[in-house]
Amino acid sequence: MPQNAKIIIVAMTEQRLIGAGDQIPWQIPEELRLFRELTTGHTLIMGRHTFESIGRPLPDRRTIVVSRRLPPTPGVEICPDLPSALHLADSYGRKVFFAGGVGIYRAALPLAELMHISWIKGDYTGDIHFPPFVLEEWQVESERDYRQFRHVLYRRW
Ligand SMILES: NC(=O)c1ccc[n+]([C@@H]2O[C@H](COP(=O)([O-])OP(=O)(O)OC[C@H]3O[C@@H](n4cnc5c(N)ncnc54)[C@H](OP(=O)(O)O)[C@@H]3O)[C@@H](O)[C@H]2O)c1
Repeated sequence: MPQNAKIIIVAMTEQRLIGAGDQIPWQIPEELRLFRELTTGHTLIMGRHTFESIGRPLPDRRTIVVSRRLPPTPGVEICPDLPSALHLADSYGRKVFFAGGVGIYRAALPLAELMHISWIKGDYTGDIHFPPFVLEEWQVESERDYRQFRHVLYRRW
């Protein structure tokens, strides 16, 4: 895998639900821990709403926010579009994680070679969904079952 592999990381239900307003519909500390383990030391690219909902740069990772409106913010780089965000992320020579929301995931789907999906168990309500995609284009590289979700690492065929 190249040092700067491009990787989608998302938690969603079987219905592809990822958000309710500006929040994540569930609270699963174990899933957040996994997100931290996987992304620490690497680079995150996220949209403005996702960044605003987290509210701060996450420690021990570089955060690039794609936005034309976010004012300069300590601890994050701001890029006006995804190509410039990717160009910057590549220059860091670390894994590049696409961390949402919808517009970032949609643009990342044709680019990413790996995809970490935490399939959240149970029913939740919300209004923000991961874009439709063809799961058959991805092969399962590894999977692990947790109490409230099943984590699958997919690699593009
Ligand atoms: N379950 C999960 O794993 C997960 C992960 C991430 C987010 N979420 C949820 O998703 C929701 C937020 O996602 P969202 O889709 O509403 O917003 P978002 O993608 O985080 O932010 C949208 C904003 O980001 C910028 N942007 C995004 N994609 C862009 C692109 N391709 N080109 C240029 N600018 C782009 C624009 O900012 P400007 O208007 O400033 O130009 C746009 O208004 C929240 O509910 C959050 O909790 C869930």
